[in-house]
Amino acid sequence: MTRWSALSGDTSGPDYAARFAALAATGKAVHGEAAFCAALMRAPARVLDAGCGTGRVAIRMAELGYECVGVDLDTSMLSVARAEAPAIPWFNADLATLDLDGDSFDLVVVAGNVVALVAPATLPATVLRLAAHLRVGGLLVSGFGLDAEHLPAGCPITPLSEYDRACAAAGLTLLARHSTWDGADFTDGQDGYAVSVHTATVAGRADPSLR
Ligand SMILES: C[S@@+](CC[C@H](N)C(=O)[O-])C[C@H]1O[C@@H](n2cnc3c(N)ncnc32)[C@H](O)[C@@H]1O
Repeated sequence: MTRWSALSGDTSGPDYAARFAALAATGKAVHGEAAFCAALMRAPARVLDAGCGTGRVAIRMAELGYECVGVDLDTSMLSVARAEAPAIPWFNADLATLDLDGDSFDLVVVAGNVVALVAPATLPATVLRLAAHLRVGGLLVSGFGLDAEHLPAGCPITPLSEYDRACAAAGLTLLARHSTWDGADFTDGQDGYAVSVHTATVAGRADPSLR
């Protein structure tokens, strides 16, 4: 069971979407992740929204001209995504065992604390499977909290070193790290949130059968 599932009960799709709609209605920017990714790679690139939830990031990137695919395990979240954007392919799958049939992407985005919310002990497998879906030179972009203030209540902290180890084992190299989706500088040990950009430099390290 994913940590998200344990915390949310897999019934939170409509609530999650309503929370972001309410934020947007107050004028708050809710598409920082999509804007960050769009600044890294020009449309029409192929984008995998991994742990897409209600499709917040993929739907915005599709509006910007990217060819998007979303994957999530929580059907209540995916139902919202499917209703909002029926033209985008949405898959109900576990990132830790993901196999999109040889499909590969220019950019994989893992936004909204997904890294911290996968099932315990599955982060290395999850990152391996994400790397397996990246073309060489493609980007893995993640954002997750490093302290209780930046994580959902009750979510254990995933140290950045653990994430970096999983990325290195999957043949990914760190290109950049920020403390916000606006690109603010990151100071290790001080900032409570990390936005990381890794690139796939090694062909076939993650899973040669998928390249
Ligand atoms: C806080 S939501 C973020 C949703 C979306 N990325 C966003 O930023 O709005 C975390 C999502 O990660 C998904 N998730 C966690 N572990 C997963 C896994 N192993 N496979 C697929 N999805 C997973 C959950 O189902 C949930 O929808």
